[in-house]
Amino acid sequence: MPSNKTKTVYECQSCGYISPKWAGKCPDCGAWNSLVEETREALPKAIQKVSAGTKPVPLSSLELSGEERISTGSIELNRVTGGGIVAGSLILIGGDPGVGKSTLMLQLLDGIYKHANNQLPAALYVSGEESLKQIKIRSLRLHINTPLIVVLSETCVEIIIEHAKKLQPSILIVDSIQTVYTQTLPSAPGSIGQVRESATKLMHFAKRTNTPVFLVGHVTKEGAIAGPRVLEHIVDTVLYFEGERMHHYRILRAVKNRFGSTNEIGVFTMEDSGLKEITNPSELFLSERPEGKVSGTTVVSTIEGTRPLMVELQALVCQTTFGVPRRTSIGVDINRVNLLVAVLEKIAGLNLGYMDIFTNVVGGLKIVEPAFDLGIIATIASSFKNVPIKKNTFVFGEVGLSGEVRTVSQAEARLREGEKIGFKEAVIPATNYNKLTIKPNINVIGVKNIDETIKAVLDY
Ligand code: TYD
Ligand code: MG
Repeated sequence: MPSNKTKTVYECQSCGYISPKWAGKCPDCGAWNSLVEETREALPKAIQKVSAGTKPVPLSSLELSGEERISTGSIELNRVTGGGIVAGSLILIGGDPGVGKSTLMLQLLDGIYKHANNQLPAALYVSGEESLKQIKIRSLRLHINTPLIVVLSETCVEIIIEHAKKLQPSILIVDSIQTVYTQTLPSAPGSIGQVRESATKLMHFAKRTNTPVFLVGHVTKEGAIAGPRVLEHIVDTVLYFEGERMHHYRILRAVKNRFGSTNEIGVFTMEDSGLKEITNPSELFLSERPEGKVSGTTVVSTIEGTRPLMVELQALVCQTTFGVPRRTSIGVDINRVNLLVAVLEKIAGLNLGYMDIFTNVVGGLKIVEPAFDLGIIATIASSFKNVPIKKNTFVFGEVGLSGEVRTVSQAEARLREGEKIGFKEAVIPATNYNKLTIKPNINVIGVKNIDETIKAVLDY
């Protein structure tokens, strides 16, 4: 029986909604069977006086001192974090189990100390998942042997913070937030209340002591970290570590960053002795392109954050053997593909109604950018007509429902990247072409609609 100071509430495990009564369906997010009983401290009776709290000040009177940042010693990590790790920031690293989050954390620390010539206080790496022996084995594999990484196997957040206060580490890493718990809540580690409460305590520690704190989080099956959006608004920065376990590419993506631009990506490969940074990912993504005249493959220029990236898109269009044609897509949104297939049918007159269409972005990348549209159009047309795309040509552009090719951002950066990789020709929106201030050293063709695109890219 809880004391009269605490009361029992029901909290939705997917959105955090609090209800005094149990219900089968969360009234806020509509999830079923998501309400779980938790205890709450009753609110204090006395309300704080204004005089005891913070004071409003004119915005113009605030002085800015330069943010203190710790350089990671890695171009890719610095890019994703916006130039290094900001003092007192709380950073969430999310990703599927086994993608390499713990490896990344150890290598991050190693890089920081190498860059700073060991002139920094020790870092505290807390693991609730692995034994100290396992961490040691990993560090041997990564050839990391600095005395400045102090490890702790602990899951109670109060004890972790106690240790951190004594040690005053330059960085605190908690691997993972789902394994830690706070003594103030009776629910099990990993439940939404625990994760949020523990993260909040660590956030207070970070802000009070000006220590950067990394939280490692596993992505649940639904693709969210411990229930959607629970942690994302508490932390300053959310980084997702993506990659198929069978592919060796790993992409670290900034989804939210209070201290830098979002959508910035860092590209790595997972090797036998840890993660290796790839500073020129376009070359990597294009390295296995089929040789000779092959239809159904196009190189598309896409922008991830501030970085242009050249990727290969493949399509296979073939006569369906069933009544209903199959449409499968990996790496691009299937709805976008279906929409563009309809545009190709109606506007370009391609008879795709009885065709199975499979599209795939090579290398396990996921692209959401509209500038990818022109690539989808070109690839499907190429496979359908069984005519290859011109050699050394790449494309980008958004496509509208009436088949018009629309302006995209950062055309010049995309062209420069293509030129750097060795492409000779680019097919781009005519509006972008007309606005180019610097003419690149490659042949640029501006197109107004998908008919012009198909004519421009196919190598008859
Ligand atoms: P890990 O960092 O433990 O992943 P996470 O913390 O995200 O669960 O890395 C797990 C995988 O990485 C594991 O399957 C083995 C592989 N790996 C390598 O390929 N090379 C290495 O040097 C290391 C340390 C791990
Ligand atoms: Mg791990």
